Amino acid sequence: MTGNKAVAYKEPGKVELIDIDYPTFELKDGPGVNPANVGRAVNHGVILKTVATNICGSDQHMVRGRTTAPANLVLGHEITGEVVEVGRDVEFIKVGDLCSVPFNIACGRCRNCKERKTGICLNVNPDRPGSAYGYVDMGGWVGGQANYVLVPYADWNLLKFPDKDKAMEKILDLAMLSDIFPTGFHGAVTAGVGVGSTVYVAGAGPVGLAAATSAHLLGAAVVIVGDMNEDRLARARSFGCETVDLTKGGPAEQIEQILGVPEVDCGVDAVGFEARGHGHDAQEAPATVLNSLMDITAAGGALGIPGLYVTGDPGGIDEAAKKGALSLSLGTGWAKSLSFTTGQCPVMKYNRQLMMAILNDKVNIAKNVNAKAITLEEAPKGYAEFDAGAATKYVLNPNGYLN
Ligand SMILES: NC(=O)c1ccc[n+]([C@@H]2O[C@H](COP(=O)([O-])OP(=O)(O)OC[C@H]3O[C@@H](n4cnc5c(N)ncnc54)[C@H](O)[C@@H]3O)[C@@H](O)[C@H]2O)c1
Ligand SMILES: [Zn+2]
Ligand SMILES: [Zn+2]
Repeated sequence: MTGNKAVAYKEPGKVELIDIDYPTFELKDGPGVNPANVGRAVNHGVILKTVATNICGSDQHMVRGRTTAPANLVLGHEITGEVVEVGRDVEFIKVGDLCSVPFNIACGRCRNCKERKTGICLNVNPDRPGSAYGYVDMGGWVGGQANYVLVPYADWNLLKFPDKDKAMEKILDLAMLSDIFPTGFHGAVTAGVGVGSTVYVAGAGPVGLAAATSAHLLGAAVVIVGDMNEDRLARARSFGCETVDLTKGGPAEQIEQILGVPEVDCGVDAVGFEARGHGHDAQEAPATVLNSLMDITAAGGALGIPGLYVTGDPGGIDEAAKKGALSLSLGTGWAKSLSFTTGQCPVMKYNRQLMMAILNDKVNIAKNVNAKAITLEEAPKGYAEFDAGAATKYVLNPNGYLN
């Protein structure tokens, strides 16, 4: 039996490398597995040998103890891999295929999947619509920060790279297709970004940088990125963004200095519920980004909100925040007829087009987010550095493909 090492959440602030079973075509009981999913047959699945599996800001919410994730939950929803076994009912994906895995797990059969809303598939998570690998309340599908991982509904979910050798030349870029590139792109698209738009992206983490990259790809005239982290803002400037330093206060004044007006056409929230307030040494204030986007987005505009908001947060700043309730100035949004798009990015809606943009040299997403490969053993260090605000997107390399 082939060994399988994996990165597991242990307790707030701690992840560890553990040994787990090599996957089979069945969802077995384990930490975080919904009882209704135990024993589920996955003959429509494949087993992937992991080529790249990235650490995400979404993982950090769990690792910081800001969710109800159980100990020993195997992490990892950003997966790229090579198929090593196919289930009985898989028809088109073959052993040896090199594939990107959308972080959403989707059945391809339900009403929402048929409408391309794969972030809210109705058949993969008994708790609620929507599912992902290695994530709390997402049905219990085992995470991919491991040597091997099971991918259900493989014919539907997997994006096969057309040419393996060419794909390996751009593998760090293609590794961003499992989540942050489509997610940032979705944020920009749903914020209404098009040719000539002015755009403000809150957050210069990997998702914010991916949204800014996407806004350029979509033809924006000016892309402004705001954060409190100077190293991350420097990354945004490295590919032509303007930046706003939020330790100096809210974004409106600095946006006015750049654009001549204190507003933009399109607003993107790439921060989520752990947002900090604006100004020097500001503390956590979860509604900050949403309220400030409503202030600075022009009337009739739209807010793309990939930043994650939760229904329960043990570390919330007050009783309301602990239940995921925020103090929003919704009247401002209403008065300005603003549109909002929240939720998981339906990765499958965008990943093929973005793959083509990468393979044909139209975009350098790995460079823009400063993607860096590290070993599985280095994962705890990668998590700690990412948590401390490193301007780096860590990509785990469990099987040496990225050497
Ligand atoms: N919707 C989806 O499908 C999806 C997919 C991936 C990630 N996400 C979410 O997107 C968010 C960003 O992910 P990431 O990996 O870039 O995380 P990250 O934690 O690395 O980045 C967040 C950044 O926001 C900054 N920040 C904090 N308060 C701010 C404020 N008021 N204004 C501007 N910036 C502020 C932080 O300094 C940090 O640099 C997370 O909430 C993550 O869970 C959602
Ligand atoms: Zn992610
Ligand atoms: Zn479905």
